[in-house]
Amino acid sequence: MVSQTEKRKVDHIKLCVEKDVAFKEKTTLLECVELDYKTLPEIALDDVNLETEFLGKTFSTPLMVSAITGGSQISKKINQDIAKACQELGIGMGLGSMRAMIESPSIADTYYVRDVAPDIFLAGNIGAAQLREYSPEIINKALESVGADALAIHLNAAQEVVQPEGDTDFSNVLSKIAEYVDEINVPVYAKEVGHGISFDVAKALKDVGVKAVDVQGAGGTSWTMVDSIRHKSGFGKTFREWGIPTAVSVVETKNALVGERQILASGGIRNGIEGIKSIILGADMVGVAMPILKAQQKSYKSLQNYLHNFTSEMAITSFLLGCKNIEELKKQEYVVLGKLKEWLNQ
Ligand SMILES: Cc1cc2nc3c(=O)[nH]c(=O)nc-3n(C[C@H](O)[C@H](O)[C@H](O)COP(=O)(O)O)c2cc1C
Repeated sequence: MVSQTEKRKVDHIKLCVEKDVAFKEKTTLLECVELDYKTLPEIALDDVNLETEFLGKTFSTPLMVSAITGGSQISKKINQDIAKACQELGIGMGLGSMRAMIESPSIADTYYVRDVAPDIFLAGNIGAAQLREYSPEIINKALESVGADALAIHLNAAQEVVQPEGDTDFSNVLSKIAEYVDEINVPVYAKEVGHGISFDVAKALKDVGVKAVDVQGAGGTSWTMVDSIRHKSGFGKTFREWGIPTAVSVVETKNALVGERQILASGGIRNGIEGIKSIILGADMVGVAMPILKAQQKSYKSLQNYLHNFTSEMAITSFLLGCKNIEELKKQEYVVLGKLKEWLNQ
């Protein structure tokens, strides 16, 4: 029998691929960041090496595929393809919520990718609202069975309140996260799903000991929009534009974490230039979800091309700034214009 969770997983994939579920008016505001083109870079493109460490694992380029799926029969091939492409490029990957495999162990294999991706950084995933249902032992067991290097806890209050069968009780979530940070056998980090993380929340997460914050800001896929389509009445569309733009969220999170934790920039990041802008704003890693799913659905070749182009664009952008590595990028000056400037000045 197909569980409600498994059915929702399939709905989400179909809606993301077939419908327009992106933010319509709000953007990431990364377009307000202007970079300082070094017309004389004084380096060769081949000198650029963006190798980086994230949560104890080495990446060839600071890029990972954000959590997408697991838990339905169509998820298996998606995860296998993504993992294989990430292994080829030396980048990371997040699995979708592991709730489905905890509820129905018979579909656990849809999350297994270590056969095709033995070396990549692999993050497991669970919803903050589900922490009260599953003990740390259960989650440790699930993480171990997939060979995860970290656990991403998703904070998706905006999505859950719009979801027809959503969990709307977010009380005491922070203290639960604190408990899991201590009890989970791999590093724990927090992520939103596309509506952003503010200064105060990033600071609270740091204070309870999460090892990184993945902002998943507004401007890309709107999860309130995805779940509003699942209501026959269209309830929830009002919240389509809800959230903090990715560029704002990266800067606020950087100010809150003051260099003591790592930051992932994500939510609406669509190319390597935007990826490098995020690194310059303060991120250590860049995450992308929707375009990866869409490319994978076309063909494995399209998926490879998308990821290859993205990493090449990051290297080229770095070259055009005269930066050989991440350290040099972090020292780059930049100009902030328009709406982003207004937001950050308040
Ligand atoms: C089909 C699909 C399923 C997703 N499922 C999950 C999930 O299970 N857990 C999670 O934390 N995020 C999930 N996400 C959210 C992404 O990780 C990401 O936060 C969000 O889509 C914003 O990034 P984007 O604008 O690059 O798509 C999913 C995204 C997609 C496209």
